[in-house]
Amino acid sequence: MLELTELSLSVCIDSQWVEAVAAVSLSLEPGRVLGLVGESGCGKSMTAQAILRLGEYQGVIKTHGDIALDGQSLFEISDEALRRMRGGRVAMIFQEPMTALNPVFSVGSQLIEVIRLHLQLNKKQARERAIMLLHDVGMQQPEQLIKQYPNALSGGMRQRVLIAMAMAADPDYIIADEPTTALDVSVQKRIIALLLNLQKRRKLGLLLVTHDFGLVAEMCDDVAVMYAGQIVESGPVKAIFDAPAHPYTRALMGCRPEVSEAGELMPVITGQVPPPGRWPEGCHFAPRCSLADAACKRPVLSDAWSQGEHRARCLHVLDAVL
Ligand SMILES: Nc1ncnc2c1ncn2[C@@H]1O[C@H](COP(=O)(O)OP(=O)(O)O)[C@@H](O)[C@H]1O
Ligand SMILES: [Mg+2]
Repeated sequence: MLELTELSLSVCIDSQWVEAVAAVSLSLEPGRVLGLVGESGCGKSMTAQAILRLGEYQGVIKTHGDIALDGQSLFEISDEALRRMRGGRVAMIFQEPMTALNPVFSVGSQLIEVIRLHLQLNKKQARERAIMLLHDVGMQQPEQLIKQYPNALSGGMRQRVLIAMAMAADPDYIIADEPTTALDVSVQKRIIALLLNLQKRRKLGLLLVTHDFGLVAEMCDDVAVMYAGQIVESGPVKAIFDAPAHPYTRALMGCRPEVSEAGELMPVITGQVPPPGRWPEGCHFAPRCSLADAACKRPVLSDAWSQGEHRARCLHVLDAVL
């Protein structure tokens, strides 16, 4: 089990440390898909990267809480264990494949390098595994493909290569940060189908970061909705789709990029996500919320409203649902 417990992260903006992720708790089990949803700038990527402790390279520091894999804190393991964990037990798929692929090395050599980093295989065995992995992610003629360079591939093919790389050492968990955002809609569908297929076959725990509620409905078992550094609603996907509780979730679900009959894009929520350092006191969403009142100016607990596993950080859920 992969567990984030009240994880808080800070970044330095204009020489001030400010909180960017505030006491986020999430848990993910093998075989399940957890969607982390929210608009751009809510702290989803920072949370996802913290799991591999990658944010530290970009000046993100942990100020509170913990991340544990099978009960072992990832902040207390050795550098060697951390290196083995990354890719070995938990792998990441990034939004933009070109940033994760090196243009000067062939697809095969990059894949073989990842394989040999984690598995005790000689070059020939690693090459065979690379071909098998590429075949597994739906690539035709993998023997030819391993000789090619990333620039020669389409966006969809690159993303398949990255998925193959993520699968290189048979991880238990995959963190996929907007894995299809940069792709055409038809390619997106195929990549999502591939990810789901691998997830089911290998019983992976998948954390899917996205701003697309349509994807969540298609893929996830559980959902956590993030707004301005906080989880504002969480629960089983069915509960959230049947009765979204938080006004932010309700707004997000109404503003999927859908086209109306008149051919216009549907309206988005007005206003913007406040950046770290500019969060309002109390409910972070209050300035954009039509239900907000004086009570929302004080901090709201993550389970201010709950029904079984379904929780919402909101004082006005009943008003919203009625
Ligand atoms: N390394 C960093 N230093 C300072 N601010 C950052 C850093 N990374 C992200 N941020 C800011 O933190 C907020 C959350 O970012 P991010 O996690 O990328 O959001 P999301 O993935 O939900 O779009 C944004 O306002 C972003 O500008
Ligand atoms: Mg992001």
